[in-house]
Amino acid sequence: MSLLAGIDIGGTKCAVSLGRPSMDGIEIVGKHMLPTAGTPDFMIGSLLDGLDALLAAAGAAAPAAVGISCGGPLDAGRGLILSPPNLPGWDLVDIVGAVRRRHDVPVALENDANAGALAEWQWGAGRGTDHMVFLTFGTGLGAGLILNGRLYAGANGMAGEAGHMRLSAFGPVGYGKQGSFEGFCSGGGIAQLAASLALEQFQRGHAPSYCASVSELGGVTAQRVGEAALAGDETALEALRISGDRLGRGLALIVDLLNPERIVIGSVYAKLRSLLEPPMLAALQREALTHALDACSVLPAALGDRIGDYAGLSVASDALRRSAHSL
Ligand code: BGC
Ligand code: NA
Repeated sequence: MSLLAGIDIGGTKCAVSLGRPSMDGIEIVGKHMLPTAGTPDFMIGSLLDGLDALLAAAGAAAPAAVGISCGGPLDAGRGLILSPPNLPGWDLVDIVGAVRRRHDVPVALENDANAGALAEWQWGAGRGTDHMVFLTFGTGLGAGLILNGRLYAGANGMAGEAGHMRLSAFGPVGYGKQGSFEGFCSGGGIAQLAASLALEQFQRGHAPSYCASVSELGGVTAQRVGEAALAGDETALEALRISGDRLGRGLALIVDLLNPERIVIGSVYAKLRSLLEPPMLAALQREALTHALDACSVLPAALGDRIGDYAGLSVASDALRRSAHSL
């Protein structure tokens, strides 16, 4: 069977993967990764050189299709990366055109959350469903919507920017908005919650285990908070209780609006599920319409740290399918 290429553009690293589709999934036969540094032209050139090396090793001249996954905002229809907050300098980058100049095959660009949704739907925790929502819950919070058995992109591809929805007037900042879904449910949001709770502790003469003094507040990360919470630190546990509660409220809005049969949540949620799930479920049950909730299950993402690779590959497989239909 022919080979597919998936490109994952992230704020800290970029990667290209080569995959061989089979009856029951896709096998990743090679991967080339590099840190995100230098101009977009340089990065794209390096990724395409990496792809050619992977193709040569696999004995192929070209992939059947290339899929690119990248954080928004982007213009998937025109193949342009607009100016994502986590990719400084990537302004109006015609990445689809650049890839096509190297390989004249179907090439598609998709928002990372949409691509993650396609991947979890085809190969992960969303298999077999017709109505599924995927939430990234990583550096940012993005949603990918699979409705009636296909990706729902919206009028101009912006559907699923759930991180921008405001859940309360106060709270951590995410997506440039205080109290937003991304503010409460992202790595940076958890760090902000834990830092403000630590400040309250200092005022009472205590210090949580993840932060000893005011001068360390800026260094609080979700990973350290998660480790402290798993070790029983009460302040860290409180930060995750708040995040889990807001996650449940946000999910209730999604359940009431879209009546999905499955919600799949990645990254931070998948890693800290034991702590985030109980407050999430309590809020969800309190807030969502019971009849809609009865039809819905909430699962952690199944593809784990490999989701970026599979995300790009799922966009490639989608591009191939669409080009076959348009022939
Ligand atoms: C971006 C989304 C993206 C999400 C996850 C958000 O800040 O606006 O487009 O899907 O982060 O990376
Ligand atoms: Na999206």
